[in-house]
Amino acid sequence: MPASVILGAQWGDEGKGKITDLLSEKADIVVRYQGGNNAGHTIVTADQKFALSLIPSGVLYPTVTPVIGNGVVVDPRWFFEEMETLTRKGIDPSRVKISSNAHLIMPYHRKLDAVIERYLGNSMIGTTKRGIGPAYTDKFSRSGIRVQDLFDEKIFLEKLAAVLKQKNKLLVKVYNQLPIDFDEIAEEYLDYADRLEPFVADTSLLVWEALNEGKNVLFEGGQGTLLDIDHGTYPFVTSSNPTAGGAPVGIGIGPNMIDNIIGVTKAYISRVGTGPFPTELKNEIGDRLIDVGGEYGVVTGRRRRCGWLDMVAMRYSARVNGLTEIALTKLDILSHFDTIKIATAYEAEGNTFTEMPRQQRVLHNCSPVYEQHEGWAEDITTVKEYEDLPRLARDYVERIEELCGVPIKTVSVGPGRKATLTKG
Ligand code: GDP
Ligand code: IMO
Ligand code: MG
Repeated sequence: MPASVILGAQWGDEGKGKITDLLSEKADIVVRYQGGNNAGHTIVTADQKFALSLIPSGVLYPTVTPVIGNGVVVDPRWFFEEMETLTRKGIDPSRVKISSNAHLIMPYHRKLDAVIERYLGNSMIGTTKRGIGPAYTDKFSRSGIRVQDLFDEKIFLEKLAAVLKQKNKLLVKVYNQLPIDFDEIAEEYLDYADRLEPFVADTSLLVWEALNEGKNVLFEGGQGTLLDIDHGTYPFVTSSNPTAGGAPVGIGIGPNMIDNIIGVTKAYISRVGTGPFPTELKNEIGDRLIDVGGEYGVVTGRRRRCGWLDMVAMRYSARVNGLTEIALTKLDILSHFDTIKIATAYEAEGNTFTEMPRQQRVLHNCSPVYEQHEGWAEDITTVKEYEDLPRLARDYVERIEELCGVPIKTVSVGPGRKATLTKG
């Protein structure tokens, strides 16, 4: 604080929701700066469990203004559904603000996401099919429709007509699908205009003013570093910049206003969807990590691929994000393993790689070089102080710190708010 970015250090699902929720207690604003409802962030409170996709995790605190920045792609249908779910659970989400510059996810984006994946066959990315990629494609090809367009009916209808003509040709002629009806979308989205109006703001100004008043702002990343469109395992990535540099761009402040960059990592790692994953365990140990760790996707329910912690990737993540600290989650899951491994390098084509290889081909074919650690084989879910963790658990944590050169300041030993240890 005052301006801290919380982001995923690997391929997502590191526990960003839990860490953001914890830090939100002292925050005034929590911002989502990229992605959309492809994210699935879990928060477990004393009596409830929340799965947030689009709305920032700070929403559970009445003192927090949750902000959806310009870098996010917003599906209004999903937005209202998530608002309703929160209301039903006794949370008041009415303070949410959405950037007028954020791009809208349209029905043709969702449809294209699904058909493009089908056409890719074996080369599919395994997207969440929420329309994320196609919405960002339109943003960058300058044919996107922004939140502010909804408030100018003439402009909105003109833009929709132009883009839909193109999309329908694509859907019908290339993908052999039925066309999408103009009137239906126009009616649905113009109806959102009135309903969205109270939430729309100049969020860049709002955050800038708050920071100048000395308020605390958290930036909550979706996805993770290795899913970044520039720095991830392209093309098996998402279509935005979850890395720290995405935060100032995705809200509209200068990068010099950011103070801390917190990388969240699990004590082992996981990946959903396709793409290289050097330390993946396609064996009974991997299956146990999935089962004991409850590694099933929040958004799609898919079984996550699991493997040992990869320090080549972790150090890369520390570098491309400029991590100032690490929050290590799910240490409790490793209590179930007698032996724990950490990858310190990759071996491929007769070479040893201690940095992320320049040619991604290496990631597909390499063998990780592991160092082995003895497990502590003891339940740690009720431990309250870092010093009270078993010696072997502390050794593991401190070895990670040593290997990546970034201090671990938070250790999580359970999904709940209280199962969190502060490390000095
Ligand atoms: P996110 O996308 O990064 O917010 O992470 P997800 O919510 O998709 O996945 C993390 C899962 O791990 C959720 O089910 C959390 O409730 C859970 N979780 C977070 N921290 C811990 C922890 O320290 N121990 C255990 N056992 N579960 C945790
Ligand atoms: P959180 O925020 C894990 C993955 C998808 C797919 C790729 C592209 O919960 O960590 P997309 O729908 O974004 O075009 O899919 O990215 N993916 C995630 N994996 N956690 C997420 O979010 C993800 N969001 C997208 O599985 O491989
Ligand atoms: Mg998730």
